[in-house]
Amino acid sequence: MSANVDLRVDVGSLTLKNPILTASGTFGYGLEYDDFYDVAELGGICTKGLSLEPRHGNPPDRICETAAGMLNAIGLANVGVEAFCRDKLPILRQRGVTVVANVFATTVDDFVKLAQRVDQEEGVAAIELNVSCPNVDKGGLEFGCDAQAAARVTAACRAVTRLPLWVKMSPEAGDIRGVGLACQEAGADALTAINTIRGLAVDPRTWRARLANRTGGLSGPALKPLALRIVWDLARTVRIPIIGIGGVATAEDAVEFLLAGATAVQVGTANFADPMASKRALDGLADYCRERGMNARDLIGKMR
Ligand SMILES: Cc1cc2nc3c(=O)[nH]c(=O)nc-3n(C[C@H](O)[C@H](O)[C@H](O)COP(=O)(O)O)c2cc1C
Repeated sequence: MSANVDLRVDVGSLTLKNPILTASGTFGYGLEYDDFYDVAELGGICTKGLSLEPRHGNPPDRICETAAGMLNAIGLANVGVEAFCRDKLPILRQRGVTVVANVFATTVDDFVKLAQRVDQEEGVAAIELNVSCPNVDKGGLEFGCDAQAAARVTAACRAVTRLPLWVKMSPEAGDIRGVGLACQEAGADALTAINTIRGLAVDPRTWRARLANRTGGLSGPALKPLALRIVWDLARTVRIPIIGIGGVATAEDAVEFLLAGATAVQVGTANFADPMASKRALDGLADYCRERGMNARDLIGKMR
């Protein structure tokens, strides 16, 4: 119940009804959770990463549990932007879901085409640029690891869309504050921090890597202290809002991110363990604020 508590937050020009969103790749296209609760109650959902063409992703095994989180090498499997716009978006729009379209590509041109395509559609609240996949333009490095490359993608997309642009930061970037600043100067409206960090798990019986891809992205509780530190660093560096992400599973986690300087958070891996995790975090945040006679905005950046 969120009566009497104002949970709204402003991510640049976009006002979210509350600061709890779901993370790209961990919540499908939103409709998969219909049997559990009305996802329109959330501050927003970030779609599975969309590419120009559909993708099958990597062969199995593509997911593996670790002591404090999960490794995944899904390989960005998705239905492609056309199928999303045709089959999924109209239903989400009709339900009043705040949709953030997460997109990825390996060239600046393809990022631009995706931004243009999504911009044509009604019912997309923002675009999130996943600059954390290896890119061909730059020879296999991530756009997100290099300030100039990240800024190039951001500026090129900025030029073709009026939608708010969120750029998703890679923890693999050596100078993440530099990358954040460069994206801000290139026209980003917000920074999402953070994406997964590469990890490895080995089976001591077979001596094989547990994932067919060998390495995968580490997510979940193991990421939280790192993500909190990066959110705090970025919040002191840039003027634009930060969306915190990495190990958020409960209302308390969300509060920690807001206090560290995030304006909103995304719940990722926790959705797999508990399909109600995001909704519980939302209800818990409302209780937290009500008990203290505060609104969600009052928490942002108040860490002492
Ligand atoms: C199975 C899986 C798939 C993911 N797919 C995407 C994706 O398509 N695009 C993206 O930007 N991030 C993707 N991510 C990263 C998450 O959005 C998030 O940044 C990361 O998992 C950290 O948050 P968490 O600890 O709450 O899971 C994926 C994560 C997981 C676990």
